[in-house]
Amino acid sequence: MESLDLKPFSQACQNNRAPILKHLRRLLDGAKTVLEVGSGTGQHAVHFAKSLPDVTWLASDLEEHHAGIRLWMAEYDLPNLRGPFVLDVNEPWPELPAIDAIYSANTAHIMAWPSVEQLFAKVGAQLSTGGLFVLYGPMNYGGSYTSESNERFDVWLKAQDPERGIRDFEKIQYLAQLAHLQALEDNEMPANNRLLVWRKA
Ligand SMILES: C[S@@+](CC[C@H](N)C(=O)[O-])C[C@H]1O[C@@H](n2cnc3c(N)ncnc32)[C@H](O)[C@@H]1O
Repeated sequence: MESLDLKPFSQACQNNRAPILKHLRRLLDGAKTVLEVGSGTGQHAVHFAKSLPDVTWLASDLEEHHAGIRLWMAEYDLPNLRGPFVLDVNEPWPELPAIDAIYSANTAHIMAWPSVEQLFAKVGAQLSTGGLFVLYGPMNYGGSYTSESNERFDVWLKAQDPERGIRDFEKIQYLAQLAHLQALEDNEMPANNRLLVWRKA
């Protein structure tokens, strides 16, 4: 009898992992340990850990996602993938090893704004000088959507929860400044997403 595949699956993760990995290969050259905030299904964690064998990848998320992440981790059985750690940006972060970079995808538009503020404050506190923060997802610029599909997505997000929504790049950048994160890159990505990179001063 065939076993049922119960792993959670995101088509978006499947689609965006290659273009994100292209940047991570470059950005994480020489990095030893990377923390992922909001690992979700766990698909990015296994793909990036498998593709970047010199990096120890720490998966994390709210506890409700851990069972799914563990299913992906069990299938791939990668020596350089650890976790999942219970990490809620609104709570004290768990005891973690020294981290060279923090990566988070599609989280800023899902968390309420006060949680986004917490995310940046805690990223700034967690990273040592020179550490990178890489944030992937849709952004608005100058108060405007970058595409009609992003506008539709934002309406849909707010219908799910009024505290969700595509964030303004300028407000995100202000949080980064408060956290002593210097803007390094703003990369255009497929499907009207961005890959933003900061370095801890
Ligand atoms: C749309 S999913 C993105 C998952 C994955 N990174 C991806 O790109 O598919 C949003 C993620 O943000 C996480 N998240 C929401 N609120 C959070 C919080 N307060 N602390 C940490 N993660 C949170 C959710 O649990 C979820 O995994």
